[in-house]
Amino acid sequence: MHVGFIYNIATPELLRERPEMTLRDSDTIETIDEVTRAVQAGGHTVTGLNADQQLPVALTQSKFDIVFNIATGIYGDSRQTHVPAMLEYLRIPHTGPGILAESLCHHKPQQKMVLAANGVPTALFQMFHSADASLKLELHFPLIVKLPSEGASMGLDYNSVVHNEADLRKQVAFLLETYGQGALVEEYIDGREFTVAVLGHSPAYALPIAELEFFGALPIRLDQVEDSNFELLKESTGRDLELVEMESRSRVPSGVEPELERRIQAVAIAAFNAIGCKDWARVDMRMDKQGNLYVLEVNLGPGIASDCVFARCGFAAGMTFDDLVNTILNHAIERYPHLSGRPDKTPSRFHLGTLAVEREPV
Ligand SMILES: Nc1ncnc2c1ncn2[C@@H]1O[C@H](COP(=O)(O)OP(=O)(O)O)[C@@H](O)[C@H]1O
Ligand SMILES: [Mg+2]
Repeated sequence: MHVGFIYNIATPELLRERPEMTLRDSDTIETIDEVTRAVQAGGHTVTGLNADQQLPVALTQSKFDIVFNIATGIYGDSRQTHVPAMLEYLRIPHTGPGILAESLCHHKPQQKMVLAANGVPTALFQMFHSADASLKLELHFPLIVKLPSEGASMGLDYNSVVHNEADLRKQVAFLLETYGQGALVEEYIDGREFTVAVLGHSPAYALPIAELEFFGALPIRLDQVEDSNFELLKESTGRDLELVEMESRSRVPSGVEPELERRIQAVAIAAFNAIGCKDWARVDMRMDKQGNLYVLEVNLGPGIASDCVFARCGFAAGMTFDDLVNTILNHAIERYPHLSGRPDKTPSRFHLGTLAVEREPV
């Protein structure tokens, strides 16, 4: 097949315009190369496209059978939905779910409401739009203060976990002033953290899980930022970065007792299904001291590089990197009858239903 591969790369213009988002959201050349090689190893022809503002025109001229999508988009609160939206408008098959699931995953409070409504446990929360709003009685310290619609640890630091009202208000004010998108305040679940790679669709299934090991002062996980864009940032903006050491590492295989592992995988699959994920996603969760599990978030299009936790979960299942990438692609192919040759179960297109018209009374 002819596979389009869509990603986001950092450009000097974007680094000047929105440095933090660009650094955190962009894919590296190494990742792009290794995914391209993996799709080629699956017997396909691959054309790579950067999700920049020329993408809409490029897509109208493309002849892709399917797109492998890892793009995060560029502008706006729902930027992750933009590439799938264009693909669906042009009827180009793609990996990953449609716009509804993408929107939910890009907005943590909405995601949490959908999870809770589907019986998937998630920490109690409250959205703050001003730093002096009163705190709901059911929320108990410690709390964690996060951005509602970002990922890759944007907005998280050593002050994110708060133990009293004064620190809570200070951190909420900081996020409101710096990012202007409100602050999500959530009960901090003090306990073990797990990551689950989920694949497929009907049914979805989980790979062996990962457990996070913490070994520093910071009790939360910060995403590792790829350093290959640092030089470009320096060249484009003259800015240097203050980096902190990673203080957590994922252990895969986790060594978690099998019964607990199965319980964690079941919660991850329930979260995947509740959101409407397809083909691949990563579900992160914590367990409190009583053994209750809470989903922290469902990540669509999680880091796929071979040193990322998602790929390492694949290796723990006995897959190679090529196997993993092609498994994701094949799960997407299966969903499109014209690509997979499976029977088309789409309901009749010719039914007209009950049509009402207004007529003058006789
Ligand atoms: N409610 C919470 N309780 C405990 N730790 C949390 C909570 N929310 C986030 N964290 C910690 O912060 C990390 C990043 O939070 P997350 O919401 O996943 O943000 P991001 O989308 O930037 O990855 C998590 O992996 C976890 O270590
Ligand atoms: Mg996360």
